[in-house]
Amino acid sequence: MNVNDVSFERERPDVYGDAHPKALLRAIQEDGDYLVQLANQHIVSGDQFDQDTMKQLFRLAAKIESNPKRFSSPLQNKILISAFYEPSTRTRLSFESAWHRLGGDIMSITDRSTTGIAKGECLADVAEMFNNYGDCVVLRDNHESSLYEMMDALRIPIINAGNGIDEHPTQALSDMYAIFKWRPELLDAANNSKIRIGVIGVPNKMRTVRSFLKCLSVFPHAVEELVVIHDEASANDLFGAGQREELTARGIKISTSTELDQVLPRLDVVYINAISWEGDTFNTYGNAFHLTAKSPLKQDAIILHPLARGEELSTDLDHTAHNWYFSQARGAVFLRMALLTCMVERAERVIDVV
Ligand code: CP
Repeated sequence: MNVNDVSFERERPDVYGDAHPKALLRAIQEDGDYLVQLANQHIVSGDQFDQDTMKQLFRLAAKIESNPKRFSSPLQNKILISAFYEPSTRTRLSFESAWHRLGGDIMSITDRSTTGIAKGECLADVAEMFNNYGDCVVLRDNHESSLYEMMDALRIPIINAGNGIDEHPTQALSDMYAIFKWRPELLDAANNSKIRIGVIGVPNKMRTVRSFLKCLSVFPHAVEELVVIHDEASANDLFGAGQREELTARGIKISTSTELDQVLPRLDVVYINAISWEGDTFNTYGNAFHLTAKSPLKQDAIILHPLARGEELSTDLDHTAHNWYFSQARGAVFLRMALLTCMVERAERVIDVV
């Protein structure tokens, strides 16, 4: 590195992943009742959200993203307990960034061994203490059941920020927020606008994919077809119990394929993930599939990836118009700002703000 050349460019390039929150904002009529109803709700699963509630959350997120300086104080005097017992770059830091940007204070735990859990304290007792110390909990835990063990004792809301291979609902909301910023017309069934979505991954093993499909299925009018692209080894274990049937019942037409390059030319959205947390470690699936700048993507197709990325997503795509994964990660801050504000009974401070 040349230490005499340390200048950098603050302007974001507008040639790729350029999200347009104002177009989405204009596409949705405000109805604050749906936001007020989120007060004191635990956020556990993508199944919890109906179409109207999601639309209002996306609208509020777009409003905040369009003018973040207007929303610097709604969470004053509120405390977030951020408990992450499994590695995270985006989820922990975007939740904490969201809370800070809204004017709140944070207590952060990044290792359960620094708490009484290391001495055998049960999660219900930890939750009882959290009731006294904070106003909201965000929990990532590699054990699926920990969330539920804490919920029983909590009198403040908790957000599931990833529980083992089960669910990651706020990631899914952020994914949907990115899609609707890209094409706001998809929100309204009357527009008859539809997209083909390819998911490269194993819904039964990946919490991000499972939650994403649950949220996607709330907007069946927008989906021409869902193609799940998988390797041969996952063929008999692709969906968890009932998920395929549930998606079909909601009106999602599903096909599967093991031939990525044959499918790619007809996809509008490519959602790729390869990592699954299992127990105390992670496995990678679908490493047979790689997206690169040379992949036969439709010219205007976008790529979403919850990240962290591995070899499946080449960095040569970063500077192409297909890259919406960085925009997806950036937008998660505003989506989480919207959700957190509503959960801790501060929705009235952001509704009607222009
Ligand atoms: N998308 C996501 O969950 O990323 P992290 O593991 O970095 O939080």
